[in-house]
Amino acid sequence: MSTRSFSPLDRLLIEAQRALTTTLGPAHAERGNPAGDIPEPALDDTDRRHAAGLMRINHTGEVCAQALYVGQAAVARDEATRAQLLHAAQEEEDHLAWCADRLRELDSRPSLLNPLWYAGSWAIGFAAGLRGDGWNLGFVVETERQVEAHLDEHMVSLPAADGRSRAILTTMKADEARHADNAEAAGARILPRPVAAVMAGMSKVMKTVAYRL
Ligand SMILES: [Fe+2]
Ligand SMILES: [Fe+2]
Repeated sequence: MSTRSFSPLDRLLIEAQRALTTTLGPAHAERGNPAGDIPEPALDDTDRRHAAGLMRINHTGEVCAQALYVGQAAVARDEATRAQLLHAAQEEEDHLAWCADRLRELDSRPSLLNPLWYAGSWAIGFAAGLRGDGWNLGFVVETERQVEAHLDEHMVSLPAADGRSRAILTTMKADEARHADNAEAAGARILPRPVAAVMAGMSKVMKTVAYRL
């Protein structure tokens, strides 16, 4: 396998391009959309707006997940950890694309603040990564477990008829659980409770804002 070395400027440009693609560009899914040919439900305006608000939260969550993992990968010490982080980030791109598809179907759009969420999450990932790979993987476990819990909430909260959104969230949840399991198996440290609490607090702010904006 050939290794190529990048200058700091190369790396900066790669990161900048990735940020732009994630926040503004169309995401490309490698797997088919789990909603498949499930029929589009007839939703009234209130239900459609509510479903769109939830799917916008999930879309922004995926932007944050990508940024977090890419930020962590930038400072991961071990090649295997870096590869695992980048692989997880790639699977999050499927999620990103499916959520974007669903937002379009619901006549809505992603959060206008996604570039801001990306920058904040990247910085958090970078800071976590500086503490070492055990912490890095611990961050993955905590993030994914929190996402799993909120996907459960959304599954209950979605309009009962919206089988298309529900199918997407079901597949995402299975992926997130696998990401957490893999990180645990690779030697994740358990994060101190205050760190986990701060992460939960920040994601609560994100969810409140992204539902509307
Ligand atoms: Fe995801
Ligand atoms: Fe994930």
